[in-house]
Amino acid sequence: MTRRMVVTAALPYANGHIHIGHLVEYIQTDIWVRFQKLRGHRAIYICADDTHGTAIMLRARQEGRSEEELIADMQQAHVRDFAGFDIQFDNYGSTHSPENRELCNRFWQALRQAGLVYEKEVEQLYDPVAQTFLADRFVRGTCPRCKAPDQYGDSCDRCGATYSPAELIDPKSTISGARPEPRRAKHLFIQIEKLHDFLERWTQEDEHLQPEVANYLKGHFLNQPLRDWDVSRPAPYFGFEIPDYPGHYWYVWFDAPIGYLASTWQWCKRHGEEFDRWWRDPETEIHHFIGKDITYFHTLFWPAMLHVAGYNLPTKVHIHGFLTVGGEKMSKSKGTFVMASTYLKHLDPAYLRYYYATKLTHKVDDLDLNPEEFVHRVNADLVGKVVNLASRTARFAHATGLSATYPDDQGLFAAGVEQGERIAAAYEQGNYNQAMRLVMELADRANAYVESRQPWQLAKEPEKAQELQDVCTVGLNLFRQIAVYLAPVLPRLAEQTGQLLGDPITSWQQAAEPLTGTPVARFKHMMKRASLEQVQAMFEESKEAESETSSPAGGFQDSDEPLRQEPLVEEHCTFEEFTKIDLRVARVVAAEDVKESKKLLRLTLSLGGQERREVLAGIKGVYQPEELVGQLVICCANLQPRKMRFGTSQGMVLAAGPGGKEIYLLRPDSGAKPGQRVH
Ligand code: MSP
Ligand code: ZN
Repeated sequence: MTRRMVVTAALPYANGHIHIGHLVEYIQTDIWVRFQKLRGHRAIYICADDTHGTAIMLRARQEGRSEEELIADMQQAHVRDFAGFDIQFDNYGSTHSPENRELCNRFWQALRQAGLVYEKEVEQLYDPVAQTFLADRFVRGTCPRCKAPDQYGDSCDRCGATYSPAELIDPKSTISGARPEPRRAKHLFIQIEKLHDFLERWTQEDEHLQPEVANYLKGHFLNQPLRDWDVSRPAPYFGFEIPDYPGHYWYVWFDAPIGYLASTWQWCKRHGEEFDRWWRDPETEIHHFIGKDITYFHTLFWPAMLHVAGYNLPTKVHIHGFLTVGGEKMSKSKGTFVMASTYLKHLDPAYLRYYYATKLTHKVDDLDLNPEEFVHRVNADLVGKVVNLASRTARFAHATGLSATYPDDQGLFAAGVEQGERIAAAYEQGNYNQAMRLVMELADRANAYVESRQPWQLAKEPEKAQELQDVCTVGLNLFRQIAVYLAPVLPRLAEQTGQLLGDPITSWQQAAEPLTGTPVARFKHMMKRASLEQVQAMFEESKEAESETSSPAGGFQDSDEPLRQEPLVEEHCTFEEFTKIDLRVARVVAAEDVKESKKLLRLTLSLGGQERREVLAGIKGVYQPEELVGQLVICCANLQPRKMRFGTSQGMVLAAGPGGKEIYLLRPDSGAKPGQRVH
């Protein structure tokens, strides 16, 4: 049965260039679409630039030109970079398109009609000079904890503290340098909670999501009421104005995913296809490929919007992890933050496509680009095993062509056909790592065959001409079989193979039918060896001082708060009840690991004077004992002492957060003294 599918990769922000981290996703998706097409299905690869939001508006202002000019330039650059890696979109659109505006209207009307939209006043920091509201990232100031100057509005690079921008000492807008002030403005919200049951079902059933993602959503979001989603931004904002709410714009994350439909619609127009066949027909599959950082937009908000507006829900959201280089986060100062265009100056794109394929699985795990391994994999597998097969046989077969009938090959070709189904299943599941291993097994067997038959020896003995032709016929057919299986990953190699054997590779089925009696072209070089020096030269060229305004993730991201929130306690507590709890400012005077425990630190707290408390706190691994000594915390001083396996805890230090690695100690502002009561 021929399947019909829309396949998307996340829409890259138009405020930065494509880097090798992005490429994980665009290559992963490209491989999947090419695989589906090769299998004879109707699949279209849909993408677009994500063009709206504050970051684009500010950048355009800074560069003294219009947003439209800026996004047009960036789109060109993106399209060029992607093409350089043989990433082949069926349509590459823009969220700033008439199609997207029209579709946003349709979604909006549906949400309004469903009674899910309401208005609420919100307080945010405002830049009075630039006359714009400021997202946290656009505010800098002195860290309230360690006093490091020039830190972002949401977290400190030096000590790792997180806080709200209003807490910064001496806050400044990064746009104008002005001191921001809190201001109130009206926003529109969507009541996602009303779709809780629907989302519970959709996320947990029918394998729309990887099991770890389904569990994560269940444990972090769906176990409590979902927070309403703030979908409007007051002017000035670069985006689409909300037709029934003048002076306000849809938040970039509202119109961005609708861009998937808008770009599909453009493709439909160009190909005379009916749009509803692709987004409103239960037979059509929708596959989204995204990175783990944008999970909740695609697994909560987005299905909710599609559901309300009556479009197809995603068949599957395929979520991948993040790229690290040499085991570390990509870094500008180390030169590992490599732009796509820089990579292309030094290395063959096929290397990266293959290397990523060997690393990608159906899991959300991060993947590492290790320079030595990269060079070794490419040379050992692609040059040493695959291309080598062709180069050692093609030159002897050029004069004669392939044998008229397929010779006895001890069942090698047939075994490869059988392996083909396992390889296909691995591709289908997104388990490219396994697919590559299965293909390399075939290459090993084929090489062993050629090795044992030694065509270069046969070529010296004229009476063995037939045997030579047969050996080369087998070798080249095994090579071609492998080239078909690798075609989704290595389209150029597939093309070269098609030219060599006079038969373009267009279908998976070709791997099951050996070629016979056809000419063999003169062998042309197929792929060079990679070298570590090239990789190092690429890093060298990528080295930059870590610039002030760019975050390690590469430019500002217009991100939103997660929906996670513990429900408020409905029942009141009386003032008397509250005062029963004796909360005190305390200084940590000693801190040590509880060796036998995975979670606990033993803290000695001074409550002023000689008053001491020994407290066991579940913050090991989050805070280091040495960084706590001397710090002020808040302690519940009259909590009933609790006997634990590792001693008695005589109180409790207060902290926020869901637990695990996310625990934040509460700390009083400087000036507070140990022993002071909290009220
Ligand atoms: N504009 C949003 C997506 C909107 S989709 C309706 C966005 N853009 S992005 O440019 O920041 O990222 C695009 C994709 O690249 C995301 O899926 C993101 O997870 C992925 N990656 C960005 N950096 C990455 C790595 N370092 N490693 C792997 N993937 C990464 O998010
Ligand atoms: Zn700090």
